Amino acid sequence: MIIKDDNCFILNTTNTTYAFRVMDTGHLEHLYYGRKINISKETLSAIVEKHEFINGNLNYYDNEHKNIGLENIKLELSSYGKGDIRESSIDLVFEDGSFTSDFLYVSSQVNKLKTGIPDLPTAYDDCKAGAELEVVLKEKYHEIYLHLYYYVFTDCDCITRRMTIVNKDNESVKIKKIMSLQLDFDDYRYILSTFNGAWAREMNRNDFKITSGKHVNASYCGVSSSRSNPFIMLRKYHTDEDMGDAYGFNLIYSGNHYEAFEVNSFNKARLVLGINPQLFEYTLKTNESFNTPEAVMTYSKNGLNDMSNNMHEFVREHIVRGAWKAKPRPVLLNSWEASYFHINEHSLLKLANEAKKCGIELFVLDDGWFGKRSDDTKSLGDWEVNQHKLPHGINGLSQKIKKLGLDFGLWVEPEMINVDSDLYRLHPEWVIDITNRDHSEGRNQRILDYTNPAVTDYIIEKMTEVFASGDISYVKWDMNRIFSDYYSKALKPEEQSSLSHRYCVGLYKVMKELTDRFPHILFEGCASGGNRFDLGILCYFPQIWASDDTDALCRAQMQHNYSYGYPLSVVGAHVSNVPNHQTLRKTPLETRFNVAAFGIFGYELNLVDLNDEEKKAIKAQVEIYKKYRHTLQFGRFYRGRSFQVFNSNETVLNQSDGNLLEWTVVSQNQEEAIGLMMQKINVANTSTHLYYPKGLKEDFLYNIKNREMKYNVKEFGDLINMLSPVHIKQDSFLHNVIAKFVKLDGEKENYIAYGDTLMYAGLHLHQAFAGTGYNDKVRYFPDFGSRIYFITKEEK
Ligand code: DGJ
Repeated sequence: MIIKDDNCFILNTTNTTYAFRVMDTGHLEHLYYGRKINISKETLSAIVEKHEFINGNLNYYDNEHKNIGLENIKLELSSYGKGDIRESSIDLVFEDGSFTSDFLYVSSQVNKLKTGIPDLPTAYDDCKAGAELEVVLKEKYHEIYLHLYYYVFTDCDCITRRMTIVNKDNESVKIKKIMSLQLDFDDYRYILSTFNGAWAREMNRNDFKITSGKHVNASYCGVSSSRSNPFIMLRKYHTDEDMGDAYGFNLIYSGNHYEAFEVNSFNKARLVLGINPQLFEYTLKTNESFNTPEAVMTYSKNGLNDMSNNMHEFVREHIVRGAWKAKPRPVLLNSWEASYFHINEHSLLKLANEAKKCGIELFVLDDGWFGKRSDDTKSLGDWEVNQHKLPHGINGLSQKIKKLGLDFGLWVEPEMINVDSDLYRLHPEWVIDITNRDHSEGRNQRILDYTNPAVTDYIIEKMTEVFASGDISYVKWDMNRIFSDYYSKALKPEEQSSLSHRYCVGLYKVMKELTDRFPHILFEGCASGGNRFDLGILCYFPQIWASDDTDALCRAQMQHNYSYGYPLSVVGAHVSNVPNHQTLRKTPLETRFNVAAFGIFGYELNLVDLNDEEKKAIKAQVEIYKKYRHTLQFGRFYRGRSFQVFNSNETVLNQSDGNLLEWTVVSQNQEEAIGLMMQKINVANTSTHLYYPKGLKEDFLYNIKNREMKYNVKEFGDLINMLSPVHIKQDSFLHNVIAKFVKLDGEKENYIAYGDTLMYAGLHLHQAFAGTGYNDKVRYFPDFGSRIYFITKEEK
């Protein structure tokens, strides 16, 4: 709901309030963002900062307002040159070279519908339950207007903001910096969390206490990047997963982004979010306009889990769109880690056949199917099937896969080109590089110039051909390098410094057109794993491959950290072989399943080479996943303990802190939940563990069970001799024969308890194996061991 009069604006969601007002000077003063408060235009003055005299040596705004020093006032929109020296929202350079600007209030209105923009994706509100506030500001001495758009998503406690700048002046103006959101706080006592990493090491959470100065989280590699995801959080010092003030922010954008948190000399804090201004410049001629990406913010008084659930709901309901929005996603098998480039029709069909036997629903052919693509040095750009590998083409293969009873999916990388390709030989000018200079390639490839309409039109048609070339119901859209040698032969010199933004606009045009042309296809984004995991991509592709690292230990923490900003329904997660291809670590097959099940689930390994016991186990996993899929994909997700421990009180940690990870996903009606508890390493002589589910209904009576398992005796090595009447040499023929026929029963947990009991007292699990005995009441819980628990509402 929006309350507006001439000089105050109050934006309410179900549980939050955001307020600002127009000052006498015409500037917009930010008043408040946080838990819902009772406030109206009549009672507003209690929360307005008093400005009687200016502080110390601050510059005053003008002769009529000697009491106003913009450096120490919370603002909705800050520019440089009139006293505010903090991070600005907008930096402009006028034709005379001056760069002071001053935006003052002109008008405002509440729009019935959310205003869209043609060039960038934005959040949408299908049920039209929200409301939009549009505030117009004007530069004091130029006919340059800023339109600030606030949209209130009441249901999920989210507010979005973006800006449009319109140049009605008879001079052009250079935009050096333009942010989407600026948020000022009265106080600096927040912890900023950013999510940084690298290839195969995405989403490490880093926490910063900033008491003065600033911290910047930004990407300058052309994509949102695994180096620094655009999702960030702020929380009060004592906030934890389940209590306290927590804010989350994200940008609906896939290019260079910038988030700065600054504390000024008066202990006020400011956050800005938007396109990275580093080497960005955009010239606006008369009557031209520029739209910023849309930023989203949310707040919860109930800790990080609740904040995350707001974001999850926002992404599920207002970002992801199309036929797959709420549709259960199929269990897939991807050919990449099974065979890399070594594929042919025969081997793929063998793999697909095994997949079918295990209950898998979708077979995905990854890289290697086109041109002369025998490795990653060639053929990107030549999207013609390799007839040697696939003599019956994509159509022939897809029909055969369909006949096996599986859907068929295909990998493409349409933004890229190898110099060793027919497309490059034909159109070297279609590439982002600087003519006659050495080029810094990434994965032996260059980037196609999506700022050039000839290129985007070509790709749209080429991909249309590819996607129509067989019975294709899924596409994995990859993008495997970051930008370098920025230069487009299609842009004018003054347009080069906005190349990376224009690239994004071109990319969105291509994605929009292709997803419109193929509405039935389930698209999965990918960029060397999670190098472009952002809300811009999710506006077109309902899911993203989270990381090329499929190691269950790494994945558990990574998925835990993705969940701060993104719901399970958008995070691609696969079971792969051991030793793991990225870490050489061996984790139990059940743990690989348990972790991947909390995501958009699939397999990525050579099923053909597995033994019967493993295939049987996989078949059982797929069956279980399908049974609980709806809750696993679309439930409310709660983090418990984590391997990454943050200790804001600086006390010494116990050795078992950070050794357990705990998740619960709960159906929207709270009648079903699935929990996970995973251990990093076995701490000797530790047998007592409790599992604490979250998100249950306190007064519902539940049945909680573990997934019952049987274990291969070989897991216990030569301890078999503790039971055997004859000596068995480890790994001998006899040991293997016994292992084939004798399976050890695992523990059975089966209880009835109220939601409050489970959540607050915790479930005391059967003792874990601790070197003093094993029977069917002891929990086999080795290094990287894990269990999943099924919780269902009992009828009273
Ligand atoms: C990088 C992706 O992240 C992988 O999953 C795989 O598709 C390869 N590219 C193929 O080249």
